[in-house]
Amino acid sequence: MSAEDVSSLEAALVARIAATANEQEARREQAALLKNLSGQLKQAVGELSDKKQFGVHFNRLKNAIVEAVDARLKAIANAALEADLARVVDVTLPGRGSGLGTLHPLTLARREIEQIFVQLGYEVAAGPHAETDFYNFEALNLPKDHPARDMQDTFYLAGPDPMAILLRTHTSPVQIRTMLAQRPPVKIVAPGVVFRRDDDPTHSPQFAQIEGLLVDRVGRVSMADLKGTLLHFVRRYLGPDLGIRLRASFFPFTEPSAEIDMSCVFCRGSGCRLCKGTGFLEIGGCGMVDPEVFRAVGYDAEEVAGFAFGMGIDRMAMLKYRIDDIKTLYEGDVRVLRQFS
Ligand code: FA5
Repeated sequence: MSAEDVSSLEAALVARIAATANEQEARREQAALLKNLSGQLKQAVGELSDKKQFGVHFNRLKNAIVEAVDARLKAIANAALEADLARVVDVTLPGRGSGLGTLHPLTLARREIEQIFVQLGYEVAAGPHAETDFYNFEALNLPKDHPARDMQDTFYLAGPDPMAILLRTHTSPVQIRTMLAQRPPVKIVAPGVVFRRDDDPTHSPQFAQIEGLLVDRVGRVSMADLKGTLLHFVRRYLGPDLGIRLRASFFPFTEPSAEIDMSCVFCRGSGCRLCKGTGFLEIGGCGMVDPEVFRAVGYDAEEVAGFAFGMGIDRMAMLKYRIDDIKTLYEGDVRVLRQFS
């Protein structure tokens, strides 16, 4: 028996393991070699009478096989990792952006409009979307059976009267909530969503309004203050060359009442298809707070006076961004929304 024979057998076994291509092959080879090890050793060195010496060779070869398989598995894993790194990670490539969203045009409009009034000293108030008949109509001098209720076709959530709960049809109930909660003077704007059974290119079943309410002692607030405030707002929001006119109208909660018209942003007042040749576009309603409303909230109608207005935020956003169908604001088309970054 020669030690050389054992060494060359060891080298041959290790070479077979080194030649395996993957983990499965390496393990299969390991099992096969260990199974036949005793036979191969006998072939290489002949039948040994010295059993102890045979055992020493056997253990040496067995350890060599196990170590060679370990080394081969590590090499296979490393090669796989290297290949993965080379294929997947190229740290020099520019990163993929996660795509920052943009604010919705109605949110942009609401914030900008709100800010103009905040800069004039108005506080921002809010009220619930689901209102009671009392706040939405009754306290605003719109008793049951009043024909002016037809001006705002209403979604009712629960009845029966007088506890009817409805989706508020305008932001005017926030006037009542504010006055019931605080003594005059009052100076608030209340932007928010409102709901009506309306549906056409300029009317949506859900839209946004901004309410304004200013109450002070009699003699300190007039229709001229109202008009000046609205003119300031229109010029700040839509253009310094624009004008407004107050057109006599009727709201049960204001007396006198007016529609707010502003000069057409498309033709600048000269008359076009969009303003139907009038040179003006309607943006809301306004007036001096009716004494009946003051009585409903417990204010002394002889002592206080106030003005109020309510304008459509959607209408204003459409004018600002030149959108001609109100549904564009509610469809959520990212190709449109992406333009408002
Ligand atoms: C009112 O809602 C009154 N509450 C406004 C008011 C407040 C008057 C305080 C006096 C004092 P009106 O129904 O006209 O008024 O609505 C006001 C504005 O909301 C309209 O000029 C229009 O710009 C907008 N608007 C009304 N209905 C819709 C609708 N379905 N879709 C989009 N905008 C609408």
